[in-house]
Parts: sequence; structure tokens; C-alpha cells
Amino acid sequence: MNIIPVRVTAAETIAEGIRLLKLAPRDGSMLPVWEPGSHIDLHLGPGIIRQYSLCGSYRDTSTYEVAVKREAASRGGSKFVHESLSVGSELSISAPRNLFPMHRGARRSLLVAGGIGITPIISMARLLRDRGQPFDLLYFARSEAHAAFRDELSGAALDGSCQLLFGQERDAVEATLANALGNRRDDCHLYLCGPQPFMDTVRMVAARHGWPDDAVHLEYFAATPASGAELETSFDLKLARSNKTFTVPPGKTIVDVLREHGTDVETSCEQGVCGTCVVKVLDGCPDHRDCFLTSQEQASGNCMAICVSRSRSTLLVVDL
Ligand code: FES
Repeated sequence: MNIIPVRVTAAETIAEGIRLLKLAPRDGSMLPVWEPGSHIDLHLGPGIIRQYSLCGSYRDTSTYEVAVKREAASRGGSKFVHESLSVGSELSISAPRNLFPMHRGARRSLLVAGGIGITPIISMARLLRDRGQPFDLLYFARSEAHAAFRDELSGAALDGSCQLLFGQERDAVEATLANALGNRRDDCHLYLCGPQPFMDTVRMVAARHGWPDDAVHLEYFAATPASGAELETSFDLKLARSNKTFTVPPGKTIVDVLREHGTDVETSCEQGVCGTCVVKVLDGCPDHRDCFLTSQEQASGNCMAICVSRSRSTLLVVDL
């Protein structure tokens, strides 16, 4: 994996609970080019690797920008960014990856962001503006104070195509979406990013108004968590190369169990998003819980993301 040593060159709070970092290579070189929708991994400490969308100018390869929301239930990532990183801090990042690419054939775009989901969406808006392609942007935030990039979004810089919507209750959100998503034109594509329940609502409204799946593009920050009941099943995991078999009990992931037994596996997000931990499945039936593999790859049963996925069969044999 391509690791880039960087230094924090600016750090500021840009909205309630949202901290923006600017990161530049320590050796003064240029960073890899990226497209809107891309994210990078931030290596924040041993075992703490988190993905954040790039939200600065896609034209500027001297610096990357990420905006991080402080999560109340932080497992260490956002807390570290908010409390321990400041100008001059050194860390490593990955090269950008784009799991949320824009559709090249779209003539018109509708961009919908909820909360911190504005980070990939604002760079998409800038690209569309620069290309002279029409778009509308809806940004739902808890309040004006919680809205990142307020000045840019509410000013003339993005051609005035943005609506900032503060403090709407669920019914109002649905009504706003119904208004925006009704009467779809065939060449229009929808891009959405935000918390899971928000995205579920947008997808439901889009489906109700006849948006085809291939015109709806979304960014997940984490795979859908498994419910407690689903975690209650244990299964055996056989490593084909070493012929060892381990039991994966309820509440532990395959990665947890492998590490306990001294088998090192490469991971990054450990949330089913990045694909770093995907392995070949040689026998058995995986219970996919990631959002990295395509539905065809999941249906084939030939591979799985072992940081989150489990097994439907009592025995799973993997190529490790
Ligand atoms: S480590 Fe990212 S999908 Fe498993």
C-alpha cells in the first residue's frame, strides 16, 4: 500500500464539532492527483486507521484537506483528530481511492448531503461548476452552526445552486426530497452522502419517484452493523494454507480471532468499506456484511471482507 508521510499545515474548527485539517507531504513533493468522491486513510496510531473524504480543491496537489466530525461514540479516530493533531503534527496517509466516482455521462446532477456527508459532495459541486455542468445541491444540517463550508455554499462561488436546510424533522426532510427528486430527467444522476438513516430516506424517496439504481450513487462511511442476534452464531474457520481451524465465536470478527492466534492479516478500515482485508473463499457460504464488494462479487461467494463478514455455513475455508 502506498503510504505518504505528511505534516499538518493547518487545523481549524469550521463548524460545531467539525475540524478541518490541511496535510502536506513532509518532503515537499506533490501529492497524487485525485477526483472528487475520493477518500484517504489517515494512520492515526497503532491499529487506528480511518477513512475521510478529500474536501479541498481537486486542482491543488500540494495539500489535501479533510474535515472530521467529532463522533460521540468515537473509537479513537475522530477523538484523536480533534484532541491530538495540530499544526506541525506528523502522520501517514494512503494515496486517494475513489469508491464514489461521478458518472461521466451525466448531463445534470443532484447532490444531496446530510451532516458531515458534505465533504465529498462539495468537491463534486466544485468540479461540476468548473465544467459548466448544471447541478443542484441540497445540504441538510442540524443548524447553521453545524454546517461546514457555509460561506462557499451560500455565496455565489458555486453558482447559487445550493440549498442549505437546517433543523428539518424527518417529515420535512422527506417533503424537501420529494420536491427535489420528483420529475427526474433521464440524464440526471443523484449523489448522496450522510449518515445511514438519512441515506436510507433519500434512497426510499428516490425509489418512490422512479430513480433507477444505476443513477443513484452513494458513499458509505461504514458497513451496516450486524444486529446482536446475527452476531450470536459461531462458526469454524479453516485456513487452507496452514490447515489450521479456529472457532469464531459470537461478538468477535474473523480478524479478531486470527490475530488472537498469531495470524497477521492486513486491514485498514475494519468497517467493511475499503477492501484491504478481502480474501478468497474456497468452501462454505460467507455472510457478507461489507459495503465494498459489488452485489455480484458477494453473490459469487468467492471472496469476502473478513473484518466484518461472517459465515452462514458452520465451516468456512479461506485462502490464508
Ligand atoms: S479492512 Fe477495510 S474492508 Fe476490511
